[in-house]
Amino acid sequence: MAAESKRTEDKKNILQNPFHRAFAAELTGELRQIDTVAHRGASGYAPENTIAAFDKAVEMKADYIEIDVQRSKDGQLVIIHDNTVNRTTDGTGYVKDLTFEQLRSLDAGSWKGEEFSGEKIPTFEEILDRYHGKIGILIELKSPELYPGIEESVAQELKERHLDNPQNEKMMIQSFNFDSLKKMNALLPKVPIEVLTSSKAHTTEQALKDFAAYADYFNPIYGIVTEDLVNRVHALGMKISSWTVRSHESAEFLLNMNMDAIITDYPDYVDPRN
Ligand code: G3P
Ligand code: CA
Repeated sequence: MAAESKRTEDKKNILQNPFHRAFAAELTGELRQIDTVAHRGASGYAPENTIAAFDKAVEMKADYIEIDVQRSKDGQLVIIHDNTVNRTTDGTGYVKDLTFEQLRSLDAGSWKGEEFSGEKIPTFEEILDRYHGKIGILIELKSPELYPGIEESVAQELKERHLDNPQNEKMMIQSFNFDSLKKMNALLPKVPIEVLTSSKAHTTEQALKDFAAYADYFNPIYGIVTEDLVNRVHALGMKISSWTVRSHESAEFLLNMNMDAIITDYPDYVDPRN
């Protein structure tokens, strides 16, 4: 086979495979990169929202880590998903009712495996200092309605580190709470804002237009993703990112959907290079 026709044939094969298609940009120069976002870190392999999970995501060459930010009783910003510590630590109680000292004394790793015993609930500051410039950070404001003023505190931490103008440092903010996102957009106009939803009611043309007024990304649960939705989001000038990939089937589905980013517990399911 002549060199040129061999190249065309190779390219065709690459583009027929959704896993390869997502990363063919390097080879063909025609397609976009899909960002891999490690959900609560590489949480399929290490306890979610701990240094072990975030380090694993760096090691796996994910593009971003996703973190859930809440606040202790005495005002420390901490990284944990649930509103209580019950599922992911050896303690009990609401995050908002425990002091930082109490939260920090808990074991946040053993529930996932004895090899992770001793992992601690990280602070937001620690995560920014340890990972900025090394990997992108997708910051989720988790239940901000429980933490009045948390938007200002998050913005302050970013500004102190000059991370509010993320040209070189990749920072983004997401939430299911749209009022909170509007506030963040006003506080940090240069940081991309991402709307999270699992509701089809938020996919109407009017709802999407309202989001496009302040959001850069629309982030639906993958169960409500359709080609039509992806096209309509893109037509309004937003990007689209979906969650949460925990199987090869869901990875393949989203890789075929012209996503801009995919949020996953298993970075290697989305990017086979890792
Ligand atoms: O990034 C999407 C995802 O984090 C939203 O759901 O419950 O895992 O925070 P949840
Ligand atoms: Ca989250």
